[in-house]
Amino acid sequence: MALNVKIGKIGPLDMLKFSKMPDVREQVIQSTPLSPLPKAYASNAKAELYHPKWQKVVIDEIRQNGADAKTLVLKSENGKALAPFRAGQYISLAITIGQTCTTRSYSLCGSPEWAYQGIYNITVKRDDEGFVSPFIHDHFEVGQKLTISSPEGHLYYEPIRDCKKVLALAGGSGITPFMGMAYAIRDGFEDFDLTIIFGSRKEEGIVYRKELDEVAAACSKVHIVHVLSDEEKEGFEHGFISADLIEKYAAGEEVTVFMCGPQAMYNFLDGEIGKLGLDFKHVRRELFGTIKDPWNQEGYPEEIHGKTYQVKVVQCGQIYDIPASADEPLLVAFERAGLKAPSRCRSGECGWCRSRLLKGDVFIPAKTDGRRWSDLEYGYIHPCSSFPASDLEVEVPAEYLNL
Ligand code: FES
Repeated sequence: MALNVKIGKIGPLDMLKFSKMPDVREQVIQSTPLSPLPKAYASNAKAELYHPKWQKVVIDEIRQNGADAKTLVLKSENGKALAPFRAGQYISLAITIGQTCTTRSYSLCGSPEWAYQGIYNITVKRDDEGFVSPFIHDHFEVGQKLTISSPEGHLYYEPIRDCKKVLALAGGSGITPFMGMAYAIRDGFEDFDLTIIFGSRKEEGIVYRKELDEVAAACSKVHIVHVLSDEEKEGFEHGFISADLIEKYAAGEEVTVFMCGPQAMYNFLDGEIGKLGLDFKHVRRELFGTIKDPWNQEGYPEEIHGKTYQVKVVQCGQIYDIPASADEPLLVAFERAGLKAPSRCRSGECGWCRSRLLKGDVFIPAKTDGRRWSDLEYGYIHPCSSFPASDLEVEVPAEYLNL
């Protein structure tokens, strides 16, 4: 039944009309057919396809990639397509090691086209001081089943916002989102000019060397500049990715800058980019993982360094009393205690770990404070980027993940 709705000044007659609305509503209800509601809606099926909370995959292949990285080819467990993604996005891998259930983010470094064939590629660099990457390198094998999130993240090309020319500054395994972008341009999923300035220590350690060179040779919009810091070789740039080098490949043009690499690289590049005064439209970076040295961040309360606090965690009506170091994110304390807490990016950006701080104080480094205004207003924090600064009480949402 069509309703004739007019918008204008509200007067006494409108109030009269409004008083008739319950009758009109009742007529609409009564005229609705009595057939039962459909059991499934097409829109829900599409939402599940494009934004599944978790996806089940199997390791189809493991390849050594450079000196200390491995590429995992993941296939959907049911043989169907995996959720589509924008080149530059990542998935979060859920993993249990001992009693600890945790997540790690890895960029999707294959072509977006492969997702329609049920295939993702991720690359994991070994960090012997890390908790997860040595476990993956030493224990993951072909045929193993894994649980991964839907694609997440915002480091992708957006034609409304970004320039036609993108300068990608990558360090080590930070090449992975740009490998995905290079494939996406080659396969017609993206249309921009990509110059990747890629810093590695030595030639033998270059991740995706062969693939990058092949894509650059096959596609005139992809350019790759290899930079070696620890050896001199013909055909390479040398040293760090400096202001001079950036100027050499970006001067005279309006460019968008994407960065992906370790924190030390960002600290250095911030200074180098600042020197140039070039017309950079945007400078955007991927943050993988939390800040490891909160005591070096501006505003860190010196007196908490090295201390351990008690945290009362309220989750699904249960209460857990756990210890938490002031030098580690609260999310890590939850995981060390064997609690399952939601997470994805682990760098303060996505909001999946959003929890309510009921009592106490936390330190949140400004560069990883991705909370919205409403979070601040109503006392929510992101435990992945919050460091205990006193005893705490925190309400944590449930994570119903079965690994
Ligand atoms: S896991 Fe993304 S904000 Fe905490």
